[in-house]
Amino acid sequence: MSELIKKLRDAEPGPAVVTAEGWVRTRRDSKTVSFIEVNDGTCLKGLQVVADHEKFDSNLLNRIATGSSVVCKGILVPSQGGNQKVEMQAQSIEILGEAPESYPLQKKRHTLEYLREIAHLRPRTNTIGAVARVRSTMAYAVHRFFQENGFYYVNTPLITASDAEGAGQMFQVTTMDMANPPRLEDGSIDWSKDFFGKKTNLTVSGQLEGETYATALRNIYTFGPTFRAENSNTKRHLAEFWMIEPEMSFCNLDGDIDIAEAFLKYVFKYTLENCEEDMDFFSKFVQEGVKDTIAHVVNSPFARMTYTEAVKELEKAADKFDFKPYWGCDLQTEHERFLTEEVCKRPVAVTDYPREIKSFYMKLNDDGKTVKAVDILAPRLGEIIGGSERENRLDVLLARMNELGLKEKDYWWYLDLRRYGSVPHAGFGLGFERAVQYVTGMQNIRDVIPYPRAVGQADF
Ligand code: 4AD
Ligand code: MG
Repeated sequence: MSELIKKLRDAEPGPAVVTAEGWVRTRRDSKTVSFIEVNDGTCLKGLQVVADHEKFDSNLLNRIATGSSVVCKGILVPSQGGNQKVEMQAQSIEILGEAPESYPLQKKRHTLEYLREIAHLRPRTNTIGAVARVRSTMAYAVHRFFQENGFYYVNTPLITASDAEGAGQMFQVTTMDMANPPRLEDGSIDWSKDFFGKKTNLTVSGQLEGETYATALRNIYTFGPTFRAENSNTKRHLAEFWMIEPEMSFCNLDGDIDIAEAFLKYVFKYTLENCEEDMDFFSKFVQEGVKDTIAHVVNSPFARMTYTEAVKELEKAADKFDFKPYWGCDLQTEHERFLTEEVCKRPVAVTDYPREIKSFYMKLNDDGKTVKAVDILAPRLGEIIGGSERENRLDVLLARMNELGLKEKDYWWYLDLRRYGSVPHAGFGLGFERAVQYVTGMQNIRDVIPYPRAVGQADF
C-alpha cells in the first residue's frame, strides 16, 4: 500500500511491506548501507530509507541523487538513530525521474533571495514547504471560523468599474490596442469602445459588493485575490494579495473589533494545533520563539486605544521616529510598530482616525472630525487588519463623496443600500499574507505567497 510519508513516519514497525514515494533530499553512504531521506512534502521531515549494499546494485544507488524522485518498498523497523521513530528497510527502489548535479537545490543552505529566483522549485525546501502547509491550514481555519459562526462565503468580482477604497491605486483592464486606441472628437480615449463598454480595473477590495450581500444575508465574508498598484517596495506589500473581508449587518465598531479579535485568535490557535512540526521549525530556525508568541496572543486580550490616545503616546517618544507624529498624520509603520511592540507589547486595535486619512465609506463620529475606523496592529508588522463601521446615513455619505470628488452615478448601487432598508453595519479586511507572515515569523511577504507580484516582479 502506498502511503503519505506523514503517515509512514508515525506508523508502527511491522512485517507488512509498505510503499513510500517522494523526492530524495539526501543520500548518505556508509560502508555497508546507504541512508536515503525521502520526502513527499506532506510533512517537514522525510522518511529514512536504508538500502543494504548487499541487496542493491551500486550503480542504482549512485543514481539516487538529491532531487530525484523514487518509489521505495520495504518494511518499517524501529530506527537506530534517535531522529525518528521508524525507518524503512528497503526491499526495492525504483527511480522515476533522475536529478543531475545541475539540480539547483543541492543540500546546503540557500538564501531566501536566491530561492525567490527559483520559485518553481522552492516549495521543495524545508522553509517554503512549511510556509505552504501553514498557509493552507490557515486558509482552512478562516473558512471554519466563519462557517461555524453563521457567515456565508460570497465571491465578489475581480474585474470592476468602481474604486472600492477611493484611493486610485488600480490596475486597468483593457483589450484595446493602447498604441492606437479609439478616440472621441476631443482626442481623449473612447472607453465606451473597450471590452466592457467602460473603463474597468482589477479590484482593490471586495468590500462594497460584500456590503450588498451583508445587507441581504446578514453576515458574509469574502476570501479572494485583490490588486493594488502601490509603488511600495517593502517587505509587507504585494501588488497581488489575498484578502479576507467579513461584513456584518446590525453591527457597530465595537462588535467589529470583537469579531476581528476572535477570528484572529481562532485562526492562530487552529494553526498551532494542526501544524505543530512546522511551527516548531519556524520557532527554531526562522523567528526565535514565534510559536510561544502566537500562543501568548491567543491567550491574552488585544489592547484597544483611540488614534488620539495613540498620537499622544507617539508624541512622548517623538525623537525615536524619522517621521514626527502629530494629530492628523497617517501612522507610519515605525509608529504602528512602536505602539504594538513598545507601548502595548501585544496586538492593539487603534480606533477613530481622522476622517481625512481614511476611506469615504467610514461612519463619521459625532465630533465631525473622526471616523469609526479600526486598524489592528501586530508586533513586527504593523497593520494587519483594517476595518470600520460603515456610513449608513445617505446624506452624510453623499456629502463625504462630494468632498472627495467621487461621482454619485458610479456608486448608485452602493448608495441604494442606504436608500432601502439601511442598517448599521461593519466589517474589516485581513491581509492573508500578513497573517501568514505573522504566524510563521517570515520577514518578507514575498516568501509567504507562491508567486509574488510586486513592483517590477511578475515572474512565473
Ligand atoms: O486597510 P485596507 O486597505 O482595507 C480595505 O481594503 C477595506 N476594504 C477592508 C474592509 O474594511 N473590508 O486593507 C486591508 C488589509 C490591510 O490591513 C493589510 O493587512 C492588507 O489588507 N493589505 C495588503 N497586504 C499586502 N500587500 C498590500 N499591498 C496590502 N494592502 C493592504
Ligand atoms: Mg488600511
